[in-house]
Amino acid sequence: MTGPVLAVDQGTSGTKALVVCPERGVLGSGFAEVRPRYLPGGMAEVDPAELYGSVVAAGRQALAAAGVDVVALGLANQGETVLAWDPADGRPLTDALVWQDRRAETVCAELVAHAEELRQLTGLPLDPYFAAPKMAWIRRHRTREGVVTTSDAWLVHRLTGAYATDAATAGRTQLLDLDRAQWSPRALEVYGLSEERLPQVTDNAQHIGTTTAFGHEIPLTGLAVDQQAALLAQRITAPGAAKCTYGTGAFLLAHTGDRPRRGTSGLVSCVAWRLAGNTGYCLDGQVYTVASAVRWLTDLGIISSAADLDPVGGSVPDSGGVTFVPALAGLAAPWWRGEVRGSLTGLGLDTGPGHLVRALCEGVAAQVAELADAAAADLGAPLETLRVDGGLTRSTLLMQTQADLLQRPVEVSALPDATALGAAALARLGADPALGVEQALPDWKPAAVYEPRISADQAAERRARFRTAVAALLD
Ligand code: G3P
Repeated sequence: MTGPVLAVDQGTSGTKALVVCPERGVLGSGFAEVRPRYLPGGMAEVDPAELYGSVVAAGRQALAAAGVDVVALGLANQGETVLAWDPADGRPLTDALVWQDRRAETVCAELVAHAEELRQLTGLPLDPYFAAPKMAWIRRHRTREGVVTTSDAWLVHRLTGAYATDAATAGRTQLLDLDRAQWSPRALEVYGLSEERLPQVTDNAQHIGTTTAFGHEIPLTGLAVDQQAALLAQRITAPGAAKCTYGTGAFLLAHTGDRPRRGTSGLVSCVAWRLAGNTGYCLDGQVYTVASAVRWLTDLGIISSAADLDPVGGSVPDSGGVTFVPALAGLAAPWWRGEVRGSLTGLGLDTGPGHLVRALCEGVAAQVAELADAAAADLGAPLETLRVDGGLTRSTLLMQTQADLLQRPVEVSALPDATALGAAALARLGADPALGVEQALPDWKPAAVYEPRISADQAAERRARFRTAVAALLD
């Protein structure tokens, strides 16, 4: 199969669409903003109509910009965002609870005795970040009507009429049997969801249905959760390397091969993708607030946008003794303390905006370094390199700090939209099963490589300072 594909990345704060041609690369792009509502009590909601509208708007923009017909559609989704809807007509019955929403903490508190059993079954710790606690919360507090699913299943239904979710997204629920990559009756029972009508779990690349939402008939042949799509686009298809995407949050994923690894480091063990019935697995760690933490500094008037990170942070030589734990929406892996909030310590009368910016970059980089170490511990070997993508990789200060604290090279992807490019690759594979994964993937070359510029001792000292600050929050 040759011919361009439409790839849509439906993310937390917007939907990006690309028309990708196997020979000529990106022919056109589109973007439509999405505005989740952040409410007191850790609530984060979004109007489902806004999600669907943004998919259609961004997709149409990309097609108009490219001026070509496409042969297939690939769709990436945010992962753990959940809503109830009526399968008869596709009508939403609730707002979508965004992955950041914490109100299902009550569900998790009740199930704490099952935490280890669920982790063994599904690879996921018990935390309201994942989809199943939110599904159970919606069933208890909002509606018992219709179906309750992750946002991708609803979008797929709106687009094609099919009722499906891919194996990797299903793996973000805590309802998927990790070894079999099928729904787990036991996990459903624990969550009180045994009676639910769940979507069919599909491969990440297969024919799902056909949509006319973008003007002409397009087969939907690729589905993925966004972080795994980026892992694929970064060509990390075997153990040894990891990728980190710096967006709303930062998400570090390391491939573990064709078997899940339930490590002891606190990382999530989950499905990377299932292709032609073969499941690949990965480890996953999260920093919940990265661009959100930059936006917080912006809202306080300390910087005017993310573009200020380098000039403002570069105006001082170091953080001036300031330590920032950017846990503004709680701590995920490896600590799993969602109720904890961030800290800013070591402030003095001489602390200025530059010190705060540097402390933010160090806090993010130190947390990502903890995740990389945890992945290396579970894999039994150090990661050779970290491949990075996402908007904040444009900050030289953040990337240099990352290489310094990791004491490994950080390779910045030349592909700014890795998630969409991963979805494009899956769409191509689904439309043409004879194509190999290697042929479907975009070429990978770094736009920049950051090498560590501080000594191992200096890095260890800074990371120890960060760990002390985290420990103070955990007490
Ligand atoms: O787990 C949530 C994460 O995948 C969302 O990513 O890019 O929509 O902020 P993004």
